[in-house]
Order: sequence, then structure tokens, then C-alpha cells
Amino acid sequence: MKRSDFLKFSGLLGGGLLGGLGLSSCTPPSQGNGTPAGADWSSVTGSMMDHAAPAIPKVRVAMLGLGNRGSSLIEMLEWLVQQGHAEITALCDVQAPYVARAAEKVATFQSSAPLLLDDASGEAWRKACNPEVADLVVIATPWHLHTTMAIHAMEQGLQAASEVPIAYTEEDCLALVQTSERTGQHCIMLENCCYNGEELWLLNMVKQGVFGDVTHAECAYLHDLRALLLDATYYHNQWRLREHLERDGNLYTTHGLGPVCMYMDVLRGDNLSHLVSMSSNEAALSKALRESNDPELQALAPNVKCGDVNTTLIRTTQGKSIMLQFDTHTGRPYSRLDKLCGTGATHYGYPSRLYLDHGPTWDWHRWQDDEAYDTARAKYDHPLWASLKEGITANQQGHGGMDFVMMYRLIRCLNEGVALDLSVYDGALWSLVGVMSERSVAEGNRRVDIPDVSGGAWTSKAPHPVFRTV
Ligand SMILES: NC(=O)c1ccc[n+]([C@@H]2O[C@H](COP(=O)([O-])OP(=O)(O)OC[C@H]3O[C@@H](n4cnc5c(N)ncnc54)[C@H](O)[C@@H]3O)[C@@H](O)[C@H]2O)c1
Repeated sequence: MKRSDFLKFSGLLGGGLLGGLGLSSCTPPSQGNGTPAGADWSSVTGSMMDHAAPAIPKVRVAMLGLGNRGSSLIEMLEWLVQQGHAEITALCDVQAPYVARAAEKVATFQSSAPLLLDDASGEAWRKACNPEVADLVVIATPWHLHTTMAIHAMEQGLQAASEVPIAYTEEDCLALVQTSERTGQHCIMLENCCYNGEELWLLNMVKQGVFGDVTHAECAYLHDLRALLLDATYYHNQWRLREHLERDGNLYTTHGLGPVCMYMDVLRGDNLSHLVSMSSNEAALSKALRESNDPELQALAPNVKCGDVNTTLIRTTQGKSIMLQFDTHTGRPYSRLDKLCGTGATHYGYPSRLYLDHGPTWDWHRWQDDEAYDTARAKYDHPLWASLKEGITANQQGHGGMDFVMMYRLIRCLNEGVALDLSVYDGALWSLVGVMSERSVAEGNRRVDIPDVSGGAWTSKAPHPVFRTV
């Protein structure tokens, strides 16, 4: 669909009707996948928890979607290809110039040429989901394609790795879990923030007992995306703006929630129980649309559905609380908050500050000074981050290093035939919180119970694989 067509339809029909057009590259955001509405989680067994697939000494990778994210994920694979751990065997996008750009990049570090799939029909990606072509698909397409692509890849006998969020209907979350369990294929959501140095350091401190009993966390995705959402070409067919015209709630839960679920042992002895979610009124994105120089964008201003600031409160089964926010409209510096409270310590992110608690005191309320902070940072650096730090610092690999660590772990765990750090249950649960947030907002901010996505496997306190050396 051409941009001008998209804008025309949006302007004429408004957000609510846009999804009903059935256009191939503009599948309606609310489309489910497989299971009918009112998902029934009772058939889930938890069999993919800490699942280890047979070792794949060299992982053949098919890349689906070569826009902003897909092209940077290719760079994360460069070192792994050079070491013989991986090979990029297929490159697919509906935009031929993006396929050519990616092929050129791959040729700088890989001698074999990947299969190039640049068919504009939107269906060529299916050819990459072939065990003769690849072992793993990496999905970096617009949100509405993630579940369909991941399920098809698993059905064909490939491992699936998708960008965030991996799904945004409850039916899709369930279909992903069921397909992974039935096929025995991995289905991992590529949540890179779980691999950031600060988050891994906090996780390590939690595991070492520095935080004592963890009680509360505050996390977020606060990222002013207005310029990108309005840009004519940054997102293919402005797919991301369309989501904000169609939906209200937390549309991007996982960057904040993923690390917090790891701090809180969610699915490893604890679980997410229920939430309430509230969106503020919408003002900033529509203002930006109105004030743009483009009459087609101006016409969309009344259609923005997503409130500027969504706040979701989540309670865990063991009684911990999480405050999760989403805001991509308001002008402000980027933050994921990264706040964590326990009986032994408190951390606030952006910038990172640590308070080590030594009991009740009159000497109040000062963060650790620089020296004490640096000492704690060095003492509790996560072994994974510490082992890769030198290479990351030298190359500044993706978002300060976390993208490389994520890709390194995915490929190396597949090479060794050991459990991945994140399972299909993690991706489904963190994405499901977005679904439930939209539900709560739509129903007057009521409490929404979060189903157990793990078939009861969450009760096992198995140690997190991210502490294992490959
Ligand atoms: N984890 C992170 O830090 C991070 C950062 C940026 C984006 N993302 C995620 O990455 C995904 C892609 O975002 P983006 O910013 O790269 O968007 P984008 O629009 O730049 O890229 C999407 C690409 O998918 C292609 N595409 C569309 N339909 C296709 C089809 N049927 N077959 C093959 N290719 C198709 C488009 O042509 C485009 O090149 C999103 O899920 C986004 O949330 C994650």
C-alpha cells in the first residue's frame, strides 16, 4: 500500500474502520491468529520451559524484514559469522532496495551469498522458512506480521526469533505457545534490554542477595517517537503511526517489563497475577500531526486513539508490585526508569543510582557516592557482560552493546544445544501484558487477570539460564 493511499484511507475512514480493509501489507492490528477469541490456556503444558534443541554447530539464519531493526541485527551477526558460528542464508523484504542494501553489507563479512527474496507481494518470506534454507528465522517486520511468521517458521521445522512485541492479541500469544510446544521448536522474543549492562548488573545483585526481598519495580518505555511516527519513510508505510490511530493502552511493554520479570523470578517461582491500566488523554501526537506541514497528516489528528501516557499496575502471585509506563508521544528524554526496591537496596535508573540499605537511620536519603557506586558496579558486574565487555566497548555493538550480547547468546546457545535464556513463555507473557492493558483501558480501567501462560511450570524455581556460561 502506498503511503498516500494509507493516509487517504486513514483520513477518510478514521482509525476504527482502517483495519477492515484487508490489505496485505496493512493487516488490521486486531487480527488474531488461529484460536478463536476467549483464549483457553488449559491445554498448555509448559514443556518448552528450559527446552534444549539438538546442537546446530553453524546456525543458518534467514532475516525477515530489513528495515531499521533488521539491518542493525545483521551487524550483530557479523562477528558470529566470522567465527563460523552462524551463516546468513536468506534475506527477505518487500522493498527490493533494502534487500540489496543488506546483501551488500553481508558481502563485506561473509563469502557465501544468501538467497535474496524481494518479492513485493508480501509472501516471499515463506520461501525462507524452509529447513533446506535456514535453521532460524529472525523476524524484524512490523508488529502485525510477527506471530504469523513465527508460527509458520516453527511449523516448517525452524527455530523462530521475533522482534518485540511478539504478539498483541491473547489468541496469538496462546497460538505461539501451543505451536512451540507441539513442534518442539524454540520461539524466542528478542528482548534486547534484558541484556543491557545495567539490567544484567541489577539482576546479578538480586541473585547475590544485595536487594534482599524484592518488593517493587517501576519500568517503562518513554521514548519520544513523534518525529519517526510522522516521517514519510522511516517506518514502512508508516505502520507504527497506524497502531496509534487504532489502539489505546501499553503498545510496547517488553523493554521495561522483561528485565523486571527477570529481577522478580517471574516464571521461575513467581508469576504475573493481575493488572489495572489507565491511559491519559491524548494530546501530544495529535498536536504534532496538526502542526505538520502535510495536509494528509493534519487530517489524521482527530483519529489518534492511543493516550499519551499509559500507566499499568501489575501484582505478582507472590505479592510484588510493578508500575509499567508507556509514552511515545510526550517530548522528554528517553527512559526505561529501571527502578527496583527491596529490603536490602534500591536502584533508580536514568541516571543509574544505588542506595544500599543498612537499616533505619537518621543519616537519610543519600545515594551511594561515586566511589561506592563504582565499587558495587565492579563487584557485581554480570559474568556474561564482563566476559564480552571488551569486544563491546571496542565496537559499540548496538544500543551500547546489549544487541550484540543478545544475538551472541541466541546463536551460541543454539550452537551448543542448550536452553535459550528466554522461552516462548517469557515472550508470550510480556506481550500479553500489553493485550491486557488495552483490555483494562477499554473496560474502564478494571482489574484484568493474567492467565498462566506456562501450564503451571512457573512454580519451579529453576535457575535462570542467563547465569549459565553458554
Ligand atoms: N528491540 C529494539 O531495540 C528495537 C528497535 C527498533 C525496532 N524494533 C522492532 O523491530 C521491528 C521492526 O521495526 P523497524 O523500526 O525496523 O520498522 P521498519 O518499517 O523500518 O522495518 C520493517 C521492515 O519490514 C518489511 N516488511 C513489511 N512487510 C513485509 C513482508 N510481508 N515480508 C518481508 N518484509 C516485510 C518492510 O519493508 C520494512 O523494511 C518492530 O517490531 C519494532 O518494534 C525493536
